[in-house]
Amino acid sequence: MKQPVLAANWKMNNGPTAAKQFMDAFLATYGSRDDRTVIIFAPAVSLPAVAGALGGRSDVLAGVQNIYWAEKGAFTGETSATMARDAGARITLVGHSERRHVFGETDEQCAKKCAAATKAGLGFMLCIGETIEQREAGETERLVKRQLREGVAQIENLISVDFSIAYEPVWAIGTGLTASAGDASAIHTVIRSELRDMIGTRANEIPILYGGSVNSSNAAGLLRAPEIDGLLVGGASVDASSWLTIAQT
Ligand code: 13P
Repeated sequence: MKQPVLAANWKMNNGPTAAKQFMDAFLATYGSRDDRTVIIFAPAVSLPAVAGALGGRSDVLAGVQNIYWAEKGAFTGETSATMARDAGARITLVGHSERRHVFGETDEQCAKKCAAATKAGLGFMLCIGETIEQREAGETERLVKRQLREGVAQIENLISVDFSIAYEPVWAIGTGLTASAGDASAIHTVIRSELRDMIGTRANEIPILYGGSVNSSNAAGLLRAPEIDGLLVGGASVDASSWLTIAQT
């Protein structure tokens, strides 16, 4: 059995001061564990605070929520993969639904970001998932397969790359509506089978996380589903005590 991955996506919360307070409170109680991986996807400006609090700990990783694909240059406001790494990130989210739906990010842009992260030695977690309209139109499977294929399309030798997938149905994000463990598992099975088609048995090692209104009450039930390898948590990850409960699920 794969070890679970418990990932916090703070979104635009916890600036450097709050991030330091969060990490001090969380790490004071969260003893070192080798049976799971915890990732904190922080705003880029808070990466030094998160990475600094971690010291050399390798069971908790600092992650960044977004990168730009160019290495450097005239791209005002953007952060490159190399810069994020330099600030302490070990992994980046790519294609989060808010990036896709608020900022208009396309599959092709996601592909460039996944490739840039890989080139810079940063792991990536590609987020995919359908809107309620797409779900009701019966398009979920076709859509997640497309987002998966196109998201990694610019990576050579995917089989040896450090990555994971987060299935986050858009209708479940921040709404209090959670996909049932059964519904999420069904889509995770589709994703896994597509991955097998792409990279053979290596697909069995790729964590597929579920995200969308996960909280300390429903986390354990979701994690018990055999196809759910981890959780990507938004709102319930911003506060250290709520996150502590989920990270210890
Ligand atoms: P919520 O947990 O707030 O629904 O957000 C999920 C999410 O977008 C995590 O990336």
